Amino acid sequence: MKKFNDARDWFLDARFGMFVHWGLYAIEAWHEQDQMRRDIPRAQYSKLINQFNPTQFDPDAWIDLAQQAGMRYICFTTKHLDGFCLWDTKQTDFNVMNSPYQRDVLAQLAQACQKRDFPLCLYYSCVDWHHPNYPYRNQSHELNIPEPDDQPDLQIYLDFVRAQIRELCTNYGPIHGIWWDINQTDHQDESFNDMIRQLQPAAVINNRGFDPGDFGTPERDWDASVKTSLEFTEPTEACNSVGYESWGYRKDEDYFTTEFLIRDIDNILAKNGNYLLNVGPKADGTIPEQATNILHDIGRWIKQTWPAFNHTIPANELTENREVLLTRKDQTIYVHLTKRPIISSVLLKPFAKLPQKATLLNTGQPVEFAVEHLPNAHIGKIPQLRLRNLPLEALSNEVIIIKLEFDKNTLPT
Ligand code: GLC
Repeated sequence: MKKFNDARDWFLDARFGMFVHWGLYAIEAWHEQDQMRRDIPRAQYSKLINQFNPTQFDPDAWIDLAQQAGMRYICFTTKHLDGFCLWDTKQTDFNVMNSPYQRDVLAQLAQACQKRDFPLCLYYSCVDWHHPNYPYRNQSHELNIPEPDDQPDLQIYLDFVRAQIRELCTNYGPIHGIWWDINQTDHQDESFNDMIRQLQPAAVINNRGFDPGDFGTPERDWDASVKTSLEFTEPTEACNSVGYESWGYRKDEDYFTTEFLIRDIDNILAKNGNYLLNVGPKADGTIPEQATNILHDIGRWIKQTWPAFNHTIPANELTENREVLLTRKDQTIYVHLTKRPIISSVLLKPFAKLPQKATLLNTGQPVEFAVEHLPNAHIGKIPQLRLRNLPLEALSNEVIIIKLEFDKNTLPT
């Protein structure tokens, strides 16, 4: 994997981050795109600003939870598609300072992140359902029913975006990334990212803005190649939410199982990608209990298995077994049972070197191993490394990862 070889390289080491979708939509608690998906007129939706008063908002509690989950950075929705801004912007009145809360949410979060040296990235939606000059083109993610008095004007709108991004990159200390969402204008323009790079040299920029940026953003399971490819060759950050329906807080959300999320995370991290897992705080500022429990479970798993991801590289060329993924650091190989196993051993054909030691990272227990010629591989009588008697039942909710330590010079370099 190529490196940036500059201040942006923090991103390639951090690997696992917390995505936070928060805004006025948390009040109705239906979906973050409520305004568009239920065709709520702007005048009605905008009134939610008069109810936004998250008295329990505590950025330290968010970062505590992220760290308990093994996450190493945070990406926060400063402005989602509804156009509501969670910082003290001078470019629109539709911002948190004009809510009963009257405090700059981003300033508090940025301060907490700086105090704890926790990288902060900012999500910013190019689509804006509030701005009267948004260059509406009847694209996906734009309003189904345009507001009758709007006056679409690309230039006025881009000036607004530029001024907002300048505020975000100037007034909140070090910013580690800008996460553009869905540029539906078709306007290509490198000057936006140039400005970000000038103001914030450590900022990584995703590929959903006005030029290709620094990294790809496969979302949910929409890109099938994420499952079939064996490693990412370009910087990639996959994203998903703990909730199946919504990224913002949803009262009766259908949550993903922890097992599904852990398998999804392992699939990305073992291929050298980053993973951004989203939670949607409630209108009072607290993170829902179900999401908290899921994050705690993931944290327990990833803390045990972190060596399998930390500064490792994919090493899938060592075996033909496509049920597992391999990562490697020097003379240590990590075998990830990424897919749900169907037998209680792992066969690493044609790999046939004996490790000095085999350990189940999840528990620290030793794993039985042998190099042998097995009945199902009688043609050619090719020996292979076999890891056996894995405690599948006890670990059925997580990805089993086995650490294999080899003698110096056993593995090809
Ligand atoms: C989806 C959602 C959008 C969310 C985004 C994050 O596109 O529709 O609301 O912000 O995912 O990637």
